[in-house]
Amino acid sequence: MFQIADRSTGSCHEYWCCISATDPATDSTDRYSRPVNDLSLEMTSEQRVDLGQEAVRFLDEFLSSLPDAPASYPMADSATLSRFRQAPPEDGLPLDGLLATIAEASNVGADSAAGSFLGYIPNCGIYSGAVGEFIAAGLNRYTGGNHASTGAVAIEQGVIDWILKLFGLGPKAAGVLLSGGSIANLTAIVAARTRFGNDFRDGVVYVSVQAHHSVNKAARLAGIADDRVRIIGADQQLRMDIDQLELAIEADLAAGLKPLAIVASAGTTDSGTIDPLQEVVDIAAAHGAWSHADAAYGGFFQLTERGRARLGGIEQFDSITIDAHKSLFMPFGIGGLLVKDGDTLVEANAGVGSYMQDVVDVEGLPHFFALGPELTRPFRGLPVWLGLHLHGVGAFRSELDRMLNLAERAQRELDQLERIRTVGQPDLSVVVFQSIHGDADSKFLFDYINNSGRVFLSSSEIHGKFVLRLAFLSPRTKDDDLDAVLELIGSAPSPVESDDEIP
Ligand SMILES: Cc1ncc(COP(=O)(O)O)c(C=O)c1O
Repeated sequence: MFQIADRSTGSCHEYWCCISATDPATDSTDRYSRPVNDLSLEMTSEQRVDLGQEAVRFLDEFLSSLPDAPASYPMADSATLSRFRQAPPEDGLPLDGLLATIAEASNVGADSAAGSFLGYIPNCGIYSGAVGEFIAAGLNRYTGGNHASTGAVAIEQGVIDWILKLFGLGPKAAGVLLSGGSIANLTAIVAARTRFGNDFRDGVVYVSVQAHHSVNKAARLAGIADDRVRIIGADQQLRMDIDQLELAIEADLAAGLKPLAIVASAGTTDSGTIDPLQEVVDIAAAHGAWSHADAAYGGFFQLTERGRARLGGIEQFDSITIDAHKSLFMPFGIGGLLVKDGDTLVEANAGVGSYMQDVVDVEGLPHFFALGPELTRPFRGLPVWLGLHLHGVGAFRSELDRMLNLAERAQRELDQLERIRTVGQPDLSVVVFQSIHGDADSKFLFDYINNSGRVFLSSSEIHGKFVLRLAFLSPRTKDDDLDAVLELIGSAPSPVESDDEIP
């Protein structure tokens, strides 16, 4: 019987991944505990079912273990990491050993699938999404053009239609699912640059200091020079400073430059802050600049009443980055871009090859290859479609509402702790705080909380100060995860005193 490290105690127990855990001498079903050199790439029906069942059991045991599992694990030594990197053998190995390696490798570092993972922008990846990915990969439909797998493209377009309607971008809008927020931001900047014109050397992109770094990276990747990107400061509430934006534009106009795009964050990564969307869109319109809202994190809060109110004005933007692998709880790898004038997206991604001469246009459906940089792409819409149809939209709405509640509760209760000062008010589901005793004590608390292994937080720097963040975006996160943070702060040893106390 196979042994792996216990997820909750670090000791050994029989299986997280219970695979054919029987005596090979007496059980003929133990086909995975001996070499399977003859397992051909095209498997028999029985082999497929067995493999699928073992994978399901493996995942189910993993998911069942999560409530008691630590939020993070110690780093592996270099010998262990080298073992994970071993080159594949010429002949196949038994599945149980391979699953054990996967389990062991998963238990190194933070457990981003756990509800106790409150760092960065969390995303547990709901199970229905994982099943959707599995089915999509098994079907392996080509969804680049609409002629090849028209039904699959129709399913995916149904998801996009729903998202476009949610954001109210109007009848000319188009959308495409991409691999994540970074690629969506890149696709948006390329669309903005395309509309600006072939010679974009005079075009300037404006972005807040609090924007996700993928926006600046996108500008660079899109060939926009560093000296054509203006970093606009943020106010005390961490929102883009509109006065600074206007001054920067005036200075650029005076220097003979022209605004190419203004990027607002609809939920920043650090603090979940929503920039003044209406003001940004008005300024962009006044200067003929492309307005882009990076709603990778915040976008699907549009499903909730509070989110929709706070995201007011987003429907006027030229483009919006959304990310189903953030606020729609999907497994990693599903972001997207919505563009008000779909033709611009088509123009930006134009390209043909002679091998594409058989492509025909199915009326009413787009070619996704014409809306983004990818030609061959996974059936990305399927996990989203399956999740939305299986659980219903209401299930997502109520979880997002619960995330907002958790953030409100966290802010309220952190504010009551003498040692703690919260930074800004949460617009969405991220709460930022620091120790009133300054950076040294904030860092001490950060290590104290994370070293407990009970919850995992990430940190950042805001206004030059070290801050801790609590980000709620996982259906697996419960009130007791927040309780644990508050208790850990309450039970932490005396503050580290320093001379940078926060008033
Ligand atoms: C606001 C925002 N934009 C963009 C991104 C990048 O998204 P991805 O990591 O999916 O590329 C993130 C990631 O956290 C984000 O929070």
